[in-house]
Amino acid sequence: MKDEKSLKSVHLSSLLEKGLEHSEKYATSVSDLRKKIGEEVFLRGWVYRHRRTGNMAFVVLRDGTGIVQCSVNKDNVKPDEWESANDLYIDSVVNLIGEVREDDRAPDGIEVQVREFGVAFKGEPFPITKDQSTEFLLDMRHLWIRSPKMIDILKLKASVINDIRGFLDEKGFLEVQPPLITGSAAEGGATLFEVNYFDRKAYLSQSGQLYLEAVINGYPLVYGFAPSFRAEPSRTPRHLAEFWQLEAEMAFYNQDMNMKLQEQILEHVAHSEAKNHPDILKRFGRDPQDLLDIQTPFERMKYEKALDILKEKGLDVKWSDGLGMDEEKALMQDRKQPVFLTNQPKEIRAFYMRINPDDPRTVLDADLLAPEGIGEIFGGSERVSDYDELMGRIKEQNLKEEDYQWYIDLRKYGSIPHSGFGIGSERVVRWILKLDSIRDAIPFPRTMNRISP
Ligand code: 4AD
Ligand code: MG
Repeated sequence: MKDEKSLKSVHLSSLLEKGLEHSEKYATSVSDLRKKIGEEVFLRGWVYRHRRTGNMAFVVLRDGTGIVQCSVNKDNVKPDEWESANDLYIDSVVNLIGEVREDDRAPDGIEVQVREFGVAFKGEPFPITKDQSTEFLLDMRHLWIRSPKMIDILKLKASVINDIRGFLDEKGFLEVQPPLITGSAAEGGATLFEVNYFDRKAYLSQSGQLYLEAVINGYPLVYGFAPSFRAEPSRTPRHLAEFWQLEAEMAFYNQDMNMKLQEQILEHVAHSEAKNHPDILKRFGRDPQDLLDIQTPFERMKYEKALDILKEKGLDVKWSDGLGMDEEKALMQDRKQPVFLTNQPKEIRAFYMRINPDDPRTVLDADLLAPEGIGEIFGGSERVSDYDELMGRIKEQNLKEEDYQWYIDLRKYGSIPHSGFGIGSERVVRWILKLDSIRDAIPFPRTMNRISP
């Protein structure tokens, strides 16, 4: 809470006419009202809802930190103030001075009884009304983004990212910045966005991983947090064309150590969000206890075993078929804990994944599947560190050697065993908040048919 000035005998008009810098000194945030019961406060914000009954006008005000009901009694304000309190649109901007009262009938148990009321900006009738379609809300995202629901999601996402950063920083990781324009594919040619790069073709980065691998030869533990671009032609509730991926790469880590680190991160995020944002979680129908119950170690399930389980559930997946959304859902629907899906066939896995020495049909990989049918939220593997194995994998997958020259080089100088993973931040938020679609986990989603707003 900042140190606000006393409002005793201050008038709204005189407070406002001295400018923003002056009025800022008196302003209170809605989230701080609990600590100011019985005091007078100056509030400014947007009209969230408003209604009138007889001599009372109720203006629910939002300011990004919360919402609060402000009651205007006709007998307590000047006639023009009363009039303006009854001539508002959703999202009109208002200023008011009033006393904070406890009131059981008000949402959240607090109300502000208005002494002075003013409209700073009336505007036009707000185009978003109740019960709009998902598509309409996406078209209106530039206005919908200000809704308390979207702000809740943004707050939780920021906090999740901080959780992960804090965890890795504590462990001695160094944050680095991989490039976003690249010369070749990290995750397969099918989903590359091409860009004109001076007189050449270039691509938007699908992943910073290969670059992080270069950095660990100088510093052993690194991570990057950056946009990843995928020209995914699929329209699913879990794919975006642009998403924010946190990727980590660790020298001298085998796949076991890699999975241990990942499960610790997810457990940390789950527990920290349950403790720090129970209110947001509840508003989205997520019981904080679900997250407190998340506990390491997570089960490791081999692809081979997953096929057996799927067969029992009537889904016949052949060896070397990738597991799609339906399969991941079937595996995870009834589970409360995440599961590592491991050792997938090498044909369907990226060229940089190390061959499993115990079963060379497979690689040393893991997708971390979230509970409740959400599917993959983290993906990672031990990397190929041997020159010949890497050349073999590049050939096998019909990749062009010249596209990976610098990456191959890393296996010639000081090559070491290493592993890493990537976290889809929007997938994690979607799981935590039980969002129907990943599109709500990013402020301005980019999908196959949407680049505006
Ligand atoms: O599984 P992916 O494609 O793996 C990589 O990019 C590796 N280079 C990561 C690494 O080992 N450094 O993507 C990693 C994660 C997925 O688990 C998923 O959570 C998310 O990124 N992701 C997507 N999120 C939203 N939209 C998409 N189209 C996504 N594709 C992957
Ligand atoms: Mg993956």
